[in-house]
Amino acid sequence: MNRNELRQNAAALVADGKGILAADESTGTCTKRFVAKGVESTPENRRNYRNVLFTTEGMEEFISGVILYDETIRQASDEGTPFPQLLAAKGVLPGIKVDTGAKDLALHPGEKVTEGLDGLRERCEEYYALGARFAKWRAVIAIGEGLPSTYCLEANAHALARYAAICQENGLVPIVEPEVLMDGDHDIARSYEVTARAQQTLFRALFDHGCFLEGLLLKPSMVISGKNCAQRAGVEEVARETVRCLRNNVPASVPGIVFLSGGQSPQEASAHLDAMNRLGPHPWKLSFSYGRALQEPALDAWSKGIDDPKQKELAQKAFYARAKLNGAAARGAYSAELEKELVGAS
Ligand code: 13P
Repeated sequence: MNRNELRQNAAALVADGKGILAADESTGTCTKRFVAKGVESTPENRRNYRNVLFTTEGMEEFISGVILYDETIRQASDEGTPFPQLLAAKGVLPGIKVDTGAKDLALHPGEKVTEGLDGLRERCEEYYALGARFAKWRAVIAIGEGLPSTYCLEANAHALARYAAICQENGLVPIVEPEVLMDGDHDIARSYEVTARAQQTLFRALFDHGCFLEGLLLKPSMVISGKNCAQRAGVEEVARETVRCLRNNVPASVPGIVFLSGGQSPQEASAHLDAMNRLGPHPWKLSFSYGRALQEPALDAWSKGIDDPKQKELAQKAFYARAKLNGAAARGAYSAELEKELVGAS
């Protein structure tokens, strides 16, 4: 294991005012997003869309890395430059989603376990040769009556730790993602309890597997009320509870924590990250690894004319604005005024 390389790349991913673009939607997820906007999901349309995001001028001011999907890491820009090279030339680290998805956990209705360990060593070697320098694996944890079970948390933590060890052996910084879903009517206290258990179980497994904590990043969900909770907690409470959970459960040697957006609106995701950074200083960097919260306005603009240069320009403008706003949030310098100035929303 090359500890220096892992340490350096992990630090680069959470450089001041920068975060990660998660553009690693599987074909199934990407199709869902495209269909919702009336766009046909073909390999060429998926390439076209990713090309629009990745060729956005100046995105590297706020984006340190981009997570790609297996199909995308093998695709190229309009000019024929392979995406990993295009990103690397801008100083943006290419990353790769290496899990193969969350599958039903046997004998545990309503629970999932993430697969993808078979052949992972060989795939990591190939991805490194293609230019990837970090990886992602997402575990999904649902909150419900009697859920999650201890077995679900342990099975997912075990897989995450095995994945992290294989990545580190092969020069990829592993992003470990235990996502506690927002689905349900649970309150923020219940979200705290489950998120804390998930993080404790994960770090116990990472220790047991000998993973190098200075060379990995945690990608957690925020401690937040369920989508259908009658009394949803406000921005300050989400920030306070999320930071409290992290301080109790995440070792200070972890260089960075990059949140997922998980169905929050773009504005909410920026406001929450900003509020957390204002509670600092923290032992780790707190930044973003957003998918939907970075892409939604850009996808919307692009979908209104996928071969129209005017729509491409609007999509890039929207993506740049969200990247800049989240870059500001990563420094605790986001504001409603900045939002208004860049997006025009109130
Ligand atoms: P969202 O920010 O849309 O939740 O996606 C981030 C991600 O990579 C989930 O695995």
